[in-house]
Amino acid sequence: MRTFQLTNIRKTFRNGDVEEEVLKGVDLSINPGQVTALIGASGSGKSTLLTIAAGLQSTSQGEIVFHGQNLATCKEEELRKIRAEAFGFIFQSSHLVPFLTVEEQLSMMLDVAGKHKDETSISSILDQVGLSHRRKAYPASLSGGEKQRAAIARAVIHQPSVLFADEPTASLDSKKSQEVMGLLKDMTRNLGMATLLVTHEEDMLTFADRVVRMEDGKIVV
Ligand SMILES: Nc1ncnc2c1ncn2[C@@H]1O[C@H](COP(=O)(O)OP(=O)(O)OP(=O)(O)O)[C@@H](O)[C@H]1O
Ligand SMILES: [Mg+2]
Repeated sequence: MRTFQLTNIRKTFRNGDVEEEVLKGVDLSINPGQVTALIGASGSGKSTLLTIAAGLQSTSQGEIVFHGQNLATCKEEELRKIRAEAFGFIFQSSHLVPFLTVEEQLSMMLDVAGKHKDETSISSILDQVGLSHRRKAYPASLSGGEKQRAAIARAVIHQPSVLFADEPTASLDSKKSQEVMGLLKDMTRNLGMATLLVTHEEDMLTFADRVVRMEDGKIVV
């Protein structure tokens, strides 16, 4: 089992002469096969924690240990490989590439992850997210919910160990949000991913196996 553990994460930003400590010693482990929801007021440090955990920005202090390796100290090249092969990402906006069809987005991701382009796995994921009939469509012709479902398919096609999702349903109405979260939860179970979900929508917490609250740069629950 691939464990993921953050220990004593601190992050300080400097704006001119002013230093602000945004993360003040965060300990968190996220478990495979579970959705861990991270909630808290705007500005409490949720996105900063998620991007540090994902190796998208550096931490000022602390350890990020994934599968026995400390991401805080590993080389950029190694980190890039881990991100591409073992992590998946979903954000508030789908960030689909405008000139690629739905299925091309998925094969591009397999390329990036250095995985074999397997038609069966592409078909199977598209089936799971309910987009088989839209596989040749370009993003501009997809609805908001379809775009987010395509983004989920792209985030998990390479079977990552850890899925990072920062407000993935913020742009959707309540019914579509439920659909997308249900899908994320099923994928988390089926693929055994450790999913870290940032959300500020109370409704979405029913999909979480565990809820962790941040307040002013610290975890309080
Ligand atoms: N690159 C940066 N430089 C300076 N300050 C930053 C930077 N990134 C974030 N911050 C500050 O860190 C604090 C936490 O920001 P963060 O984006 O983590 O909050 P959040 O909990 O995700 O909020 P929201 O719910 O609004 O998305 C905020 O005060 C923000 O202004
Ligand atoms: Mg945020």
